[in-house]
Amino acid sequence: MTRARSGRPVVGIVGLGYMGLASGLGFAAHGFTVLGYDVKPEIRESVRRGKAPYREPGLPELLRRQWRLGRFRVVDTLNELVEGAACIFLCVPTPSGRGGRIDLRPMRRSVTEVGRALRSVRGYRVVVVKSTVVPGTTEGTVAPALYRASGRRARELGVASNPEFLAEGSMVEDAVRPERVVIGAIDAKAVIWLKRLYRPFGAPVYHLTPAGAELVKYSSNAFLALKVSFANEVSRWSDRLGANVDEVMAAVGRDPRIGSRFLRAGPGFGGSCFDKDLRALACRGRELGVRIRSAEAALGINDDQLAYVLRFIRSAVGSLDGRRVALLGLSFKAGTDDVRESRALPIAAFLVAQGAIVRGHDPVARASFGAAWRRTPHSRRGRVELCRTVGEALRGADAAVLQADWPEYSAWKRTWTKRMARPLLIDLRRAVRPAVAKRAGLDVAGVGAGSLPRSANGEVPT
Ligand code: UGA
Repeated sequence: MTRARSGRPVVGIVGLGYMGLASGLGFAAHGFTVLGYDVKPEIRESVRRGKAPYREPGLPELLRRQWRLGRFRVVDTLNELVEGAACIFLCVPTPSGRGGRIDLRPMRRSVTEVGRALRSVRGYRVVVVKSTVVPGTTEGTVAPALYRASGRRARELGVASNPEFLAEGSMVEDAVRPERVVIGAIDAKAVIWLKRLYRPFGAPVYHLTPAGAELVKYSSNAFLALKVSFANEVSRWSDRLGANVDEVMAAVGRDPRIGSRFLRAGPGFGGSCFDKDLRALACRGRELGVRIRSAEAALGINDDQLAYVLRFIRSAVGSLDGRRVALLGLSFKAGTDDVRESRALPIAAFLVAQGAIVRGHDPVARASFGAAWRRTPHSRRGRVELCRTVGEALRGADAAVLQADWPEYSAWKRTWTKRMARPLLIDLRRAVRPAVAKRAGLDVAGVGAGSLPRSANGEVPT
Protein backbone atom coordinates (compact mmCIF):
# COMPACT_ATOMS: atom_id res chain seq x y z
CA MET A 1 0.00 0.00 0.00
CA THR A 2 1.92 3.02 -1.17
CA ARG A 3 -1.11 5.28 -0.93
CA ALA A 4 -2.81 6.37 2.24
CA ARG A 5 -6.60 6.14 2.69
CA SER A 6 -6.74 9.75 1.52
CA GLY A 7 -5.43 8.52 -1.84
CA ARG A 8 -2.23 10.48 -1.34
CA PRO A 9 1.14 8.79 -1.84
CA VAL A 10 2.93 7.67 1.31
CA VAL A 11 6.20 9.51 1.91
CA GLY A 12 9.31 7.63 3.06
CA ILE A 13 12.19 9.33 4.85
CA VAL A 14 15.58 7.61 4.97
CA GLY A 15 17.67 9.26 7.68
CA LEU A 16 16.01 10.89 10.68
CA GLY A 17 18.66 13.53 11.42
CA TYR A 18 17.63 17.15 11.94
CA MET A 19 16.80 17.58 8.26
CA GLY A 20 15.10 14.24 7.61
CA LEU A 21 12.92 14.45 10.68
CA ALA A 22 11.88 18.06 10.06
CA SER A 23 11.19 17.36 6.37
CA GLY A 24 9.15 14.26 7.21
CA LEU A 25 7.14 16.18 9.77
CA GLY A 26 6.56 18.91 7.18
CA PHE A 27 4.86 16.32 4.95
CA ALA A 28 2.92 14.88 7.90
CA ALA A 29 1.73 18.39 8.85
CA HIS A 30 0.25 18.68 5.35
CA GLY A 31 -1.72 15.47 5.85
CA PHE A 32 0.63 12.90 4.33
CA THR A 33 1.32 9.56 5.91
CA VAL A 34 5.07 9.33 6.50
CA LEU A 35 7.29 6.34 7.17
CA GLY A 36 10.67 7.11 8.71
CA TYR A 37 13.82 5.01 8.97
CA ASP A 38 17.23 5.63 10.50
CA VAL A 39 20.22 3.27 10.77
CA LYS A 40 20.61 4.23 14.42
CA PRO A 41 18.22 2.18 16.59
CA GLU A 42 18.28 4.80 19.38
CA ILE A 43 16.97 7.46 16.99
CA ARG A 44 14.27 5.12 15.69
CA GLU A 45 13.28 4.31 19.25
CA SER A 46 13.12 7.93 20.33
CA VAL A 47 11.04 9.04 17.33
CA ARG A 48 8.85 5.96 17.63
CA ARG A 49 7.93 7.04 21.15
CA GLY A 50 7.13 10.52 19.84
CA LYS A 51 10.21 12.00 21.47
CA ALA A 52 12.38 14.39 19.45
CA PRO A 53 16.05 13.34 19.54
CA TYR A 54 17.22 16.95 18.86
CA ARG A 55 16.60 20.32 20.33
CA GLU A 56 14.82 22.37 17.73
CA PRO A 57 11.99 24.85 18.38
CA GLY A 58 8.57 23.39 17.61
CA LEU A 59 9.94 19.92 16.81
CA PRO A 60 8.74 18.09 19.95
CA GLU A 61 5.23 19.55 19.66
CA LEU A 62 4.88 18.76 15.95
CA LEU A 63 6.29 15.26 16.41
CA ARG A 64 3.95 14.52 19.30
CA ARG A 65 0.97 15.78 17.35
CA GLN A 66 1.72 13.82 14.19
CA TRP A 67 2.58 10.77 16.27
CA ARG A 68 -0.80 10.94 18.02
CA LEU A 69 -2.54 11.34 14.68
CA GLY A 70 -0.63 8.25 13.50
CA ARG A 71 0.75 10.11 10.49
CA PHE A 72 4.43 9.63 11.28
CA ARG A 73 5.48 6.01 11.72
CA VAL A 74 8.92 4.57 12.22
CA VAL A 75 9.92 1.33 10.51
CA ASP A 76 12.88 -0.91 11.38
CA THR A 77 14.01 -1.86 7.90
CA LEU A 78 14.41 -0.22 4.54
CA ASN A 79 12.42 -3.10 3.05
CA GLU A 80 9.38 -2.01 5.04
CA LEU A 81 9.92 1.59 4.02
CA VAL A 82 10.31 0.83 0.33
CA GLU A 83 7.30 -1.45 0.41
CA GLY A 84 5.07 1.15 2.03
CA ALA A 85 6.26 4.45 0.54
CA ALA A 86 5.82 5.73 -3.00
CA CYS A 87 8.20 8.71 -2.72
CA ILE A 88 11.41 7.91 -0.89
CA PHE A 89 13.51 10.84 0.29
CA LEU A 90 17.19 10.26 1.02
CA CYS A 91 18.10 12.49 3.96
CA VAL A 92 21.39 10.90 4.96
CA PRO A 93 24.40 12.93 6.06
CA THR A 94 26.98 14.06 3.50
CA PRO A 95 29.86 15.12 5.76
CA SER A 96 33.06 16.80 4.67
CA GLY A 97 35.58 14.31 3.40
CA ARG A 98 39.11 14.47 1.99
CA GLY A 99 40.18 17.80 0.52
CA GLY A 100 36.75 19.33 1.19
CA ARG A 101 34.92 16.83 -1.04
CA ILE A 102 31.74 15.47 0.43
CA ASP A 103 31.90 11.97 1.81
CA LEU A 104 29.34 10.01 -0.18
CA ARG A 105 29.74 6.73 1.71
CA PRO A 106 26.53 7.02 3.78
CA MET A 107 24.65 8.03 0.62
CA ARG A 108 26.07 5.14 -1.40
CA ARG A 109 25.15 2.68 1.34
CA SER A 110 21.54 3.88 1.51
CA VAL A 111 21.24 3.97 -2.26
CA THR A 112 22.42 0.36 -2.54
CA GLU A 113 20.10 -0.79 0.23
CA VAL A 114 17.10 1.10 -1.12
CA GLY A 115 17.91 -0.25 -4.59
CA ARG A 116 18.06 -3.84 -3.31
CA ALA A 117 14.83 -3.41 -1.39
CA LEU A 118 13.19 -2.17 -4.59
CA ARG A 119 13.79 -5.57 -6.19
CA SER A 120 11.12 -7.18 -4.03
CA VAL A 121 8.34 -4.62 -4.53
CA ARG A 122 6.08 -3.82 -7.45
CA GLY A 123 4.91 -0.51 -8.80
CA TYR A 124 6.51 2.82 -9.66
CA ARG A 125 8.59 4.61 -7.04
CA VAL A 126 10.42 7.92 -6.95
CA VAL A 127 13.71 8.16 -5.06
CA VAL A 128 14.59 11.72 -4.16
CA VAL A 129 17.95 13.06 -3.02
CA LYS A 130 17.31 15.66 -0.33
CA SER A 131 20.78 15.56 1.21
CA THR A 132 23.15 18.23 -0.04
CA VAL A 133 25.26 16.68 -2.81
CA VAL A 134 27.55 18.43 -5.29
CA PRO A 135 26.04 19.14 -8.71
CA GLY A 136 26.09 16.06 -10.89
CA THR A 137 25.75 13.52 -8.05
CA THR A 138 22.07 12.61 -8.46
CA GLU A 139 22.39 11.93 -12.17
CA GLY A 140 25.99 10.71 -12.25
CA THR A 141 26.21 8.60 -9.09
CA VAL A 142 22.85 8.04 -7.39
CA ALA A 143 20.69 7.17 -10.42
CA PRO A 144 23.09 4.61 -11.98
CA ALA A 145 23.65 2.97 -8.59
CA LEU A 146 19.90 2.78 -8.01
CA TYR A 147 19.20 1.29 -11.44
CA ARG A 148 21.99 -1.24 -10.89
CA ALA A 149 20.95 -2.30 -7.39
CA SER A 150 17.22 -2.43 -8.18
CA GLY A 151 17.43 -3.95 -11.64
CA ARG A 152 14.88 -1.32 -12.70
CA ARG A 153 14.95 1.05 -15.63
CA ALA A 154 14.17 4.76 -15.65
CA ARG A 155 10.57 4.02 -16.70
CA GLU A 156 9.96 2.06 -13.51
CA LEU A 157 11.93 4.20 -11.14
CA GLY A 158 11.95 7.97 -10.91
CA VAL A 159 15.10 9.65 -9.58
CA ALA A 160 15.19 13.29 -8.57
CA SER A 161 17.02 15.96 -6.65
CA ASN A 162 14.99 18.08 -4.25
CA PRO A 163 17.31 20.13 -2.02
CA GLU A 164 16.13 21.58 1.26
CA PHE A 165 16.63 25.06 2.66
CA LEU A 166 15.97 24.49 6.35
CA ALA A 167 17.87 26.67 8.81
CA GLU A 168 18.43 25.47 12.35
CA GLY A 169 16.23 27.25 14.83
CA SER A 170 13.46 27.64 12.24
CA MET A 171 13.54 24.17 10.70
CA VAL A 172 9.97 23.26 11.51
CA GLU A 173 8.59 26.51 10.13
CA ASP A 174 10.84 26.20 7.04
CA ALA A 175 9.72 22.60 6.48
CA VAL A 176 6.01 23.30 6.88
CA ARG A 177 6.01 26.60 4.97
CA PRO A 178 8.94 26.53 2.51
CA GLU A 179 9.60 29.68 0.48
CA ARG A 180 10.25 27.59 -2.61
CA VAL A 181 10.42 24.02 -3.79
CA VAL A 182 13.24 23.05 -6.14
CA ILE A 183 12.91 19.90 -8.20
CA GLY A 184 15.45 18.40 -10.57
CA ALA A 185 14.11 15.14 -11.95
CA ILE A 186 15.57 12.84 -14.56
CA ASP A 187 12.18 11.71 -15.91
CA ALA A 188 8.96 13.62 -16.57
CA LYS A 189 6.81 11.26 -14.49
CA ALA A 190 8.86 11.97 -11.36
CA VAL A 191 8.33 15.72 -11.91
CA ILE A 192 4.57 15.24 -12.06
CA TRP A 193 4.65 13.15 -8.88
CA LEU A 194 6.77 15.59 -6.95
CA LYS A 195 4.78 18.63 -8.09
CA ARG A 196 1.62 16.88 -6.90
CA LEU A 197 3.26 15.95 -3.63
CA TYR A 198 4.20 19.55 -2.92
CA ARG A 199 0.91 21.09 -4.05
CA PRO A 200 -0.54 21.34 -0.51
CA PHE A 201 2.50 23.39 0.56
CA GLY A 202 1.43 26.23 -1.75
CA ALA A 203 5.04 27.26 -2.44
CA PRO A 204 6.38 28.22 -5.87
CA VAL A 205 7.99 25.22 -7.58
CA TYR A 206 11.18 25.55 -9.62
CA HIS A 207 11.81 22.72 -12.02
CA LEU A 208 15.37 22.36 -13.31
CA THR A 209 17.76 19.64 -14.37
CA PRO A 210 19.07 17.55 -11.42
CA ALA A 211 22.45 19.33 -11.60
CA GLY A 212 20.62 22.67 -11.75
CA ALA A 213 18.62 21.83 -8.61
CA GLU A 214 21.79 20.77 -6.82
CA LEU A 215 23.45 23.99 -7.91
CA VAL A 216 20.56 26.07 -6.50
CA LYS A 217 21.37 24.66 -3.06
CA TYR A 218 25.10 25.40 -3.28
CA SER A 219 24.56 28.81 -4.84
CA SER A 220 22.12 29.76 -2.09
CA ASN A 221 24.48 28.79 0.71
CA ALA A 222 27.49 30.32 -1.05
CA PHE A 223 25.63 33.59 -1.53
CA LEU A 224 24.41 33.68 2.07
CA ALA A 225 27.89 32.90 3.36
CA LEU A 226 29.29 35.62 1.13
CA LYS A 227 26.78 38.12 2.53
CA VAL A 228 27.84 37.28 6.09
CA SER A 229 31.51 37.45 5.12
CA PHE A 230 30.99 40.79 3.44
CA ALA A 231 29.41 42.18 6.61
CA ASN A 232 32.30 40.73 8.59
CA GLU A 233 34.80 42.50 6.37
CA VAL A 234 32.87 45.76 6.78
CA SER A 235 33.00 45.22 10.55
CA ARG A 236 36.78 45.37 10.36
CA TRP A 237 36.72 48.52 8.22
CA SER A 238 34.22 49.97 10.69
CA ASP A 239 36.55 49.42 13.63
CA ARG A 240 39.37 51.08 11.73
CA LEU A 241 37.26 53.98 10.50
CA GLY A 242 35.19 54.68 13.59
CA ALA A 243 31.83 53.51 12.18
CA ASN A 244 29.29 51.08 13.55
CA VAL A 245 28.80 48.12 11.22
CA ASP A 246 25.13 47.65 12.15
CA GLU A 247 24.33 51.25 11.29
CA VAL A 248 26.24 50.93 8.03
CA MET A 249 24.60 47.65 7.03
CA ALA A 250 21.12 48.87 8.00
CA ALA A 251 21.46 51.65 5.44
CA VAL A 252 23.18 49.41 2.86
CA GLY A 253 20.58 46.64 3.23
CA ARG A 254 17.72 49.07 2.76
CA ASP A 255 18.46 48.88 -0.96
CA PRO A 256 16.09 46.11 -2.09
CA ARG A 257 18.71 44.93 -4.56
CA ILE A 258 20.90 44.07 -1.57
CA GLY A 259 18.39 43.22 1.17
CA SER A 260 18.92 43.60 4.89
CA ARG A 261 19.07 39.97 6.02
CA PHE A 262 22.32 38.06 6.63
CA LEU A 263 24.34 41.22 7.04
CA ARG A 264 24.93 40.86 10.80
CA ALA A 265 28.64 40.88 11.42
CA GLY A 266 29.93 38.47 14.04
CA PRO A 267 32.72 36.04 14.80
CA GLY A 268 32.39 34.40 11.38
CA PHE A 269 29.89 31.86 10.15
CA GLY A 270 29.68 28.42 11.70
CA GLY A 271 27.28 25.50 11.54
CA SER A 272 27.31 22.25 9.70
CA CYS A 273 26.53 23.65 6.26
CA PHE A 274 28.26 26.81 5.07
CA ASP A 275 31.85 25.73 5.63
CA LYS A 276 31.26 22.20 4.34
CA ASP A 277 29.27 23.31 1.30
CA LEU A 278 31.65 26.07 0.30
CA ARG A 279 34.62 23.75 0.54
CA ALA A 280 32.83 21.10 -1.53
CA LEU A 281 31.80 23.69 -4.13
CA ALA A 282 35.28 25.19 -4.39
CA CYS A 283 36.79 21.72 -4.64
CA ARG A 284 34.34 20.58 -7.34
CA GLY A 285 35.02 23.80 -9.21
CA ARG A 286 38.75 23.10 -9.19
CA GLU A 287 38.15 19.55 -10.41
CA LEU A 288 36.10 20.90 -13.30
CA GLY A 289 38.59 23.64 -14.05
CA VAL A 290 36.08 26.34 -13.07
CA ARG A 291 37.44 28.35 -10.15
CA ILE A 292 34.64 29.45 -7.83
CA ARG A 293 36.43 32.42 -6.40
CA SER A 294 33.50 33.82 -4.46
CA ALA A 295 33.22 30.62 -2.39
CA GLU A 296 36.99 30.58 -1.86
CA ALA A 297 36.87 34.25 -0.83
CA ALA A 298 34.04 33.69 1.66
CA LEU A 299 36.03 30.90 3.29
CA GLY A 300 39.16 33.05 3.41
CA ILE A 301 37.32 36.01 4.92
CA ASN A 302 35.78 33.66 7.49
CA ASP A 303 39.25 32.52 8.58
CA ASP A 304 40.41 36.15 8.70
CA GLN A 305 37.44 37.11 10.86
CA LEU A 306 38.26 34.47 13.44
CA ALA A 307 41.90 35.61 13.54
CA TYR A 308 40.70 39.22 13.91
CA VAL A 309 38.32 38.31 16.74
CA LEU A 310 41.08 36.50 18.63
CA ARG A 311 43.39 39.51 18.29
CA PHE A 312 40.53 41.74 19.35
CA ILE A 313 39.95 39.72 22.52
CA ARG A 314 43.66 39.66 23.28
CA SER A 315 43.94 43.41 22.83
CA ALA A 316 40.85 44.21 24.87
CA VAL A 317 41.86 42.06 27.84
CA GLY A 318 45.62 42.45 27.66
CA SER A 319 47.63 39.45 28.79
CA LEU A 320 45.31 36.47 29.15
CA ASP A 321 47.64 34.41 31.29
CA GLY A 322 45.88 33.48 34.53
CA ARG A 323 42.86 35.66 33.65
CA ARG A 324 39.33 34.40 34.19
CA VAL A 325 37.25 34.68 31.04
CA ALA A 326 33.56 33.86 30.71
CA LEU A 327 32.53 32.56 27.29
CA LEU A 328 28.83 33.22 26.72
CA GLY A 329 26.98 31.37 23.97
CA LEU A 330 28.55 28.09 22.91
CA SER A 331 26.39 27.02 19.96
CA PHE A 332 27.19 28.17 16.41
CA LYS A 333 24.31 30.62 16.63
CA ALA A 334 21.55 31.37 19.12
CA GLY A 335 18.46 29.17 19.03
CA THR A 336 20.15 25.79 18.74
CA ASP A 337 22.27 23.38 20.78
CA ASP A 338 24.32 22.54 17.70
CA VAL A 339 28.03 23.31 18.18
CA ARG A 340 29.29 22.08 14.82
CA GLU A 341 31.82 24.62 13.50
CA SER A 342 30.88 26.88 16.41
CA ARG A 343 33.35 29.73 16.89
CA ALA A 344 33.12 29.00 20.62
CA LEU A 345 35.46 26.03 20.06
CA PRO A 346 38.45 27.87 18.52
CA ILE A 347 37.88 30.83 20.85
CA ALA A 348 37.98 28.53 23.89
CA ALA A 349 41.08 26.81 22.46
CA PHE A 350 42.80 30.18 22.03
CA LEU A 351 41.91 31.35 25.53
CA VAL A 352 43.13 28.10 27.08
CA ALA A 353 46.35 28.22 25.03
CA GLN A 354 46.95 31.76 26.28
CA GLY A 355 46.67 30.54 29.86
CA ALA A 356 43.18 31.85 30.64
CA ILE A 357 40.75 30.11 32.96
CA VAL A 358 37.60 29.67 30.91
CA ARG A 359 34.04 29.35 32.15
CA GLY A 360 31.38 28.69 29.53
CA HIS A 361 27.65 29.26 29.56
CA ASP A 362 24.90 28.50 27.10
CA PRO A 363 21.15 28.16 27.74
CA VAL A 364 21.00 24.81 25.89
CA ALA A 365 24.35 23.83 24.37
CA ARG A 366 26.42 23.01 27.45
CA ALA A 367 26.29 19.25 26.99
CA SER A 368 26.95 19.31 23.25
CA PHE A 369 29.79 21.80 23.71
CA GLY A 370 31.31 19.69 26.51
CA ALA A 371 31.28 16.59 24.31
CA ALA A 372 32.76 18.46 21.31
CA TRP A 373 35.41 20.14 23.48
CA ARG A 374 36.54 16.81 24.92
CA ARG A 375 37.11 15.58 21.37
CA THR A 376 39.49 18.46 20.54
CA PRO A 377 43.22 18.15 21.30
CA HIS A 378 43.02 21.51 23.14
CA SER A 379 41.00 19.92 25.93
CA ARG A 380 44.23 18.30 27.12
CA ARG A 381 45.78 21.74 27.62
CA GLY A 382 43.04 23.16 29.75
CA ARG A 383 39.52 22.83 31.01
CA VAL A 384 36.43 24.78 30.12
CA GLU A 385 34.18 24.78 33.14
CA LEU A 386 30.56 24.71 32.03
CA CYS A 387 28.21 26.75 34.20
CA ARG A 388 24.45 26.50 34.63
CA THR A 389 23.91 30.23 35.07
CA VAL A 390 25.41 33.36 33.56
CA GLY A 391 26.15 34.64 37.07
CA GLU A 392 28.21 31.55 37.84
CA ALA A 393 30.23 31.92 34.61
CA LEU A 394 30.90 35.58 35.42
CA ARG A 395 32.05 35.04 39.00
CA GLY A 396 35.41 36.78 39.43
CA ALA A 397 35.81 37.16 35.63
CA ASP A 398 38.33 39.60 34.19
CA ALA A 399 36.32 39.66 30.97
CA ALA A 400 33.37 38.05 29.25
CA VAL A 401 33.19 37.16 25.56
CA LEU A 402 29.72 37.06 23.99
CA GLN A 403 29.88 34.58 21.12
CA ALA A 404 26.23 33.63 20.36
CA ASP A 405 23.54 36.25 20.88
CA TRP A 406 20.96 34.49 23.00
CA PRO A 407 18.29 37.04 24.01
CA GLU A 408 19.02 36.68 27.73
CA TYR A 409 22.52 38.12 27.23
CA SER A 410 21.12 41.23 25.52
CA ALA A 411 19.15 42.01 28.70
CA TRP A 412 22.41 42.25 30.68
CA LYS A 413 21.79 42.56 34.42
CA ARG A 414 23.57 44.85 36.80
CA THR A 415 23.97 41.93 39.21
CA TRP A 416 25.98 40.11 36.54
CA THR A 417 28.44 43.00 36.22
CA LYS A 418 28.83 43.03 39.99
CA ARG A 419 30.01 39.44 39.94
CA MET A 420 32.91 40.28 37.65
CA ALA A 421 36.38 41.29 38.82
CA ARG A 422 36.59 43.69 35.87
CA PRO A 423 33.37 44.80 34.14
CA LEU A 424 34.49 44.14 30.56
CA LEU A 425 32.40 42.51 27.85
CA ILE A 426 33.86 41.72 24.44
CA ASP A 427 30.72 41.57 22.39
CA LEU A 428 31.32 39.68 19.15
CA ARG A 429 27.73 40.25 17.98
CA ARG A 430 27.02 43.74 19.43
CA ALA A 431 24.10 42.17 21.30
CA VAL A 432 24.19 44.40 24.38
CA ARG A 433 22.98 47.88 23.49
CA PRO A 434 24.97 50.84 24.82
CA ALA A 435 22.05 52.03 27.02
CA VAL A 436 21.68 48.58 28.61
CA ALA A 437 25.45 48.37 29.18
CA LYS A 438 25.49 51.82 30.75
CA ARG A 439 22.66 50.96 33.15
CA ALA A 440 24.47 47.75 34.09
CA GLY A 441 27.80 49.52 34.63
CA LEU A 442 29.43 47.42 31.92
CA ASP A 443 32.30 48.39 29.60
CA VAL A 444 31.72 46.93 26.17
CA ALA A 445 34.23 46.41 23.38
CA GLY A 446 32.14 45.36 20.40
CA VAL A 447 33.63 43.91 17.24
CA GLY A 448 32.48 46.24 14.46
CA ALA A 449 31.21 48.84 16.93
CA GLY A 450 33.70 51.38 15.69
CA SER A 451 36.67 51.40 17.98
CA LEU A 452 39.75 49.29 18.36
CA PRO A 453 40.72 48.11 21.80
CA ARG A 454 44.30 48.83 22.73
CA SER A 455 46.03 46.61 25.22
CA ALA A 456 48.64 47.70 27.74
CA ASN A 457 51.40 46.81 25.27
CA GLY A 458 49.80 48.95 22.58
CA GLU A 459 48.74 46.03 20.42
CA VAL A 460 45.89 46.85 18.05
CA PRO A 461 44.01 44.14 16.14
CA THR A 462 44.47 44.85 12.47
C1 UGA B 1 22.02 27.52 6.56
C2 UGA B 1 21.09 28.24 5.60
O1 UGA B 1 20.64 29.47 6.17
C3 UGA B 1 19.87 27.38 5.27
O2 UGA B 1 19.07 28.03 4.30
C4 UGA B 1 20.37 26.04 4.72
O3 UGA B 1 19.29 25.18 4.41
C5 UGA B 1 21.26 25.38 5.75
O4 UGA B 1 22.38 26.25 6.03
C6 UGA B 1 21.73 24.07 5.19
O5 UGA B 1 22.40 24.07 4.15
O6 UGA B 1 21.35 23.02 5.72
P1 UGA B 1 22.10 27.20 9.23
O7 UGA B 1 23.45 26.61 9.02
O8 UGA B 1 21.14 26.53 10.12
O9 UGA B 1 21.34 27.37 7.80
O10 UGA B 1 22.33 28.63 9.85
P2 UGA B 1 22.29 30.16 9.38
O11 UGA B 1 21.19 30.83 10.06
O12 UGA B 1 22.35 30.28 7.92
O13 UGA B 1 23.66 30.69 10.02
C7 UGA B 1 24.92 30.21 9.58
C8 UGA B 1 26.02 30.97 10.28
O14 UGA B 1 26.09 32.32 9.82
C9 UGA B 1 25.85 31.06 11.80
O15 UGA B 1 27.10 30.89 12.42
C10 UGA B 1 25.34 32.48 12.03
O16 UGA B 1 25.68 32.99 13.28
C11 UGA B 1 26.07 33.21 10.92
N1 UGA B 1 25.36 34.45 10.51
C12 UGA B 1 24.17 34.39 9.86
C13 UGA B 1 25.95 35.66 10.81
O17 UGA B 1 27.05 35.74 11.40
N2 UGA B 1 25.32 36.81 10.43
C14 UGA B 1 24.13 36.78 9.77
O18 UGA B 1 23.61 37.88 9.42
C15 UGA B 1 23.53 35.54 9.49
